[in-house]
Amino acid sequence: MAKMNEMTQVIDAQTNTAPASARAKSALPDAQTVTQVTHWTDRLFSFRVTRPASLRFRSGEFVMIGLMGDPDPKTGKQKPLLRAYSIASPSWDDELEFYSIKVEDGPLTSKLQHIQPGDQIILRPKPVGTLVHDALLPGKRLWLFATGTGFAPFASLLRDPQTYEDYDEVIVTHTCRTTGELAYGAQLIDSIRQDEILEELIGGGFADKLRYYPTTTREESAKMGRITDLMRSGEVYEDLGVPPLCPETDRAMICGNLSFNLDLKALFEEYGLREGANSAPREYVVEKAFLD
Ligand code: A2P
Repeated sequence: MAKMNEMTQVIDAQTNTAPASARAKSALPDAQTVTQVTHWTDRLFSFRVTRPASLRFRSGEFVMIGLMGDPDPKTGKQKPLLRAYSIASPSWDDELEFYSIKVEDGPLTSKLQHIQPGDQIILRPKPVGTLVHDALLPGKRLWLFATGTGFAPFASLLRDPQTYEDYDEVIVTHTCRTTGELAYGAQLIDSIRQDEILEELIGGGFADKLRYYPTTTREESAKMGRITDLMRSGEVYEDLGVPPLCPETDRAMICGNLSFNLDLKALFEEYGLREGANSAPREYVVEKAFLD
């Protein structure tokens, strides 16, 4: 098989960064300033914003973010247009990172995709979510299953020392239509493997626990197919040299589109894994990726 760990991506993403002078605070309630925007493809972008000093969150959680909507034609009043976004940055980061799809007619993302460094967004500082370590029982191997922008909460978890302290092995699968859509995740995995701060926090060799398994469905790549099909055929287990998921050793988090989440849930139940929650930790947890 092709060596997924050594997969290299041609990245032609465009990044804009704000000068420090542009990072001013606003009088708007819950406003944060955009510090960096990267366009990965014509459908995907990521951005970083200032972090409210009081905001504490657990890796994998989401917050409501957005912009002011258009003025009401009758009253001229504007209402905030907010959506749930997983925080993609780790909890120790000074800034917050988000990863988003661009939907042409989407009420929020049709506007949000045009933000520039120095602009402001609204961020409600009340993090919640189920893709957290607390919702899983202790286990040996952690599987993270994402499609598209569902990679975002895992971008946070994969930079959290606890992920490597709690598990012997961490396998992240990412299914996208094209290789360009894998770029955000592929670059992040590369940067984690070379991250000196993480190495200092977690200890040398932590990155050896991390396995990356990207697949595409509509463009040729080293590994093609929906991850669900590759699990059913057993190919993913053969490629990685691990046994199929079992409730004694394996824990899993799912974040993707609705049908993906439902298909994987059905598969996990066949394997004997049960869905957990913050209040009742079990073997797997699931959350829907944001779609505008
Ligand atoms: P496919 O191209 O076969 O639909 P999207 O960009 O539409 O959100 O999809 C992201 C990725 O998720 C695509 O590669 C898509 O494959 C895949 N996908 C969509 N639905 C499912 C599903 N039910 N199970 C597994 N993968 C899925």
